[in-house]
Amino acid sequence: MKRIGVFTSGGDAPGMNACIRAVVRGAVYHGIEVFGIRRGYSGMIAGDVYKMESYSVSNIVQRGGTILKSARSKDFMTPEGRKKAYENLMELGIEGLVAIGGNGTFTGAMIFGNEYGIPTVGAPGTIDNDLYGTDYTIGFDTAVNTALDAIDRIRDTASSHDRIFFIEVMGRDSGYIAVQSGIAGGAELVMVPEVLTPISEVVETLKQGWSRSKSSSIIIVAEGDEEGSAQEVAEKIKAQVDENADIRVTTLGHTQRGGPPSAYDRILASRLGLGALEGLIAGQKNVMAGIINNDLVYTPFEDTIRLPKPINEDLLRMVKILSV
Ligand code: F6P
Repeated sequence: MKRIGVFTSGGDAPGMNACIRAVVRGAVYHGIEVFGIRRGYSGMIAGDVYKMESYSVSNIVQRGGTILKSARSKDFMTPEGRKKAYENLMELGIEGLVAIGGNGTFTGAMIFGNEYGIPTVGAPGTIDNDLYGTDYTIGFDTAVNTALDAIDRIRDTASSHDRIFFIEVMGRDSGYIAVQSGIAGGAELVMVPEVLTPISEVVETLKQGWSRSKSSSIIIVAEGDEEGSAQEVAEKIKAQVDENADIRVTTLGHTQRGGPPSAYDRILASRLGLGALEGLIAGQKNVMAGIINNDLVYTPFEDTIRLPKPINEDLLRMVKILSV
């Protein structure tokens, strides 16, 4: 393999830059030419591509976001869009791809690989940590720490005013950010999409807290929870508890997507970027590089897309015990 392309796609995640850096520097080390493709599949279709050198990735290991920019391309979902992308890659002589992203990114790569045979190796980049085939995804640790910082701050004011706070964290259909930030932030309860927490249980938890003279509470709601958004959950609770209960809602939103990556994410991203590149060189295709039990592993895209990544229910049980 003489020439490859690298791109980021889907929601950005802190550590994506460290991953791009590892791919580019790894390629330079192995004597392979590397092209950066801007805005993911959109750039592939538009031919928005540039040659990257070692210096192209200087001074980015510490930066959030992605220097290659990111997008969710509708055109790549069409056969015409993928044909155009293929023609552009052929024109440039690109023989393999490193795709940094999540489920949607790998679904696109798998279809493209099956249609045109271009080998692609993925590196999991998403704050959601919802990918089978790796213990952690790039950006998750930073997002948890960002959420935790906000939770700690909210706890101060919640305690001063004897308030109940419902804090909504991101994760799409996954409760990983909620569980980890909830444990670290000492939340009273964590509501996640994987396990139903009925409103009655939330009410019961609050009432038990009051009976033990607890004057403030923090409830973390994952954005994909079945009972609704943090705002909706708060409305339901208001209707069922003491009318004097002082309830507030905070949605952390995209703050969780930005900021400098944690040391953990920079190291993970470096390992996965280099792992994806060296996998590609060794002949891997249509697989995602992941780290499981500290070992580098490759999992077929098909499995990362299809198989669920279950949440550890023991952790949810622990939240309840520790909030007694
Ligand atoms: O997948 C990352 C993520 O931040 C999810 O947690 C969230 O549901 C979604 O992306 C938000 O997407 P957008 O940035 O397009 O609003």
